[in-house]
Amino acid sequence: MAETATLTIDGKSWELPIIRGTAGEPAIDVTKLRDLTGHLTYDPGYGNTVSCTSAITYIDGDAGILRYRGIPIEQFSQRPNFVETAWLLIFGRLPKPHELAAFSAKLTANAHLHEGLKHHFEGFPIDAPPMAILSAMINAKGCFEDDFTHLEAEEAFEETAASLISKVRTIAAYAYRRSRGLPFIYPDPRLRYCANFLHMMFSMPYDQHLLDPDIEDALNLIFILHADHEQNCSTSTVRMVGSAKANLFASLAAGVCALWGPLHGGANAAVIEMLEGIHQGGLTPEQCIAKAKDKTDPFRLMGFGHRVYKNYDPRAKMLKQVADKVFSKLRRSDPLLDIARGLEELALKDPYFIDRKLYPNVDFYSGLIFRAIGIPTNMFTVMFAIGRLPGWIAQWKEQHDQVGGRIARPRQIYTGPELATYVPIERR
Ligand code: CMC
Repeated sequence: MAETATLTIDGKSWELPIIRGTAGEPAIDVTKLRDLTGHLTYDPGYGNTVSCTSAITYIDGDAGILRYRGIPIEQFSQRPNFVETAWLLIFGRLPKPHELAAFSAKLTANAHLHEGLKHHFEGFPIDAPPMAILSAMINAKGCFEDDFTHLEAEEAFEETAASLISKVRTIAAYAYRRSRGLPFIYPDPRLRYCANFLHMMFSMPYDQHLLDPDIEDALNLIFILHADHEQNCSTSTVRMVGSAKANLFASLAAGVCALWGPLHGGANAAVIEMLEGIHQGGLTPEQCIAKAKDKTDPFRLMGFGHRVYKNYDPRAKMLKQVADKVFSKLRRSDPLLDIARGLEELALKDPYFIDRKLYPNVDFYSGLIFRAIGIPTNMFTVMFAIGRLPGWIAQWKEQHDQVGGRIARPRQIYTGPELATYVPIERR
């Protein structure tokens, strides 16, 4: 018999269907609630609201589990390949060798930016935030496509996805070069995804950047760990914009803007600012913890806490190991890493953080690794965006392919004046 939940209002009862996901997680289906009862549900921040069904990513926040298309995230660390992970997320299964080779070839063929698009960088002030440039350039890129609004055919979609995943890295590197007044370095078709990105970031026309396979692997894993995270703020934004049948480029550009916020992807840069503040003697780690606990102070311990994880974020666990590897490989030490470890230790034994189940999240250690690789702080959230792009594309496609989808349009409870009168300006 179908499961239901009984809702009783003013003595009248209704049976509402319960739907369950693969792991049995239940949700009360309220799609007919307003028609049946005249009532709405109130859930600011959507902490209890399921906005869609999705077969892409599974998270169990209490157990600290993350899986892409059913595969535990830990399994991606063996031979990290971001391009393979992107294909898996977008097309729903691991690619066969010839499919991966064909997709990689598409990425290589699409790495260049149209010269016309390249000139757009000159229009930005030298200190323009790279996330603003990234969002604007993704939207602008759509204008350089022959037919960017129709992506019904699987092949056309694959070509466009490859082009976006490839070019986002070129755009990111060019935004950085522009901010430093450095010449643009063209992509090198002989290099793999992450190596090519590092080449465009750090080579000079007269001096090829030396690539280290261990750093390349670390970057691959970092991008993989950021690749999708179900219905977070930026992904929900991509789906929200996409639900209006807006094109892929416009939807992704909106996702970049949402990711920019310091409570979301912008937290990786905010963590470094917080650690630098401590290092420069602004605050001791103990004062920082006390400030984060003080309810009269808006300060939060950046890189801590998560809407879904009420356990150690599995991505943070893996990134902590990547940080150790990268620092020992580069034979580098960073006082900020020691401060981060100390802060984590303090927080994890503090009743405030224990009671609220606040653990390090993906942003706590990622910035330290970016810093060690030589990525400047204002590019950290761009790095997150490069990693998240396949997830956004997969989510947009899943929604686009679903039959009978509706435009996303939440309701509200109006609390303004009931009826007011317009007063002409000369009488106000
Ligand atoms: N420092 C201090 N207190 C915190 C923190 C924190 N980082 N995070 C949550 N809390 C407290 C919060 O004040 C609340 O306390 P109380 O119950 O006494 O009112 C309690 O913990 C529950 O927090 P919440 O506000 O209900 O949590 P949320 O699900 O709305 O917010 C969050 C999640 C990630 C926005 C939040 O934890 C936060 O602001 N963290 C710092 C920013 C950050 O690291 N963001 C990256 C998130 S992971 C990657 C991503 O999504 O991009």
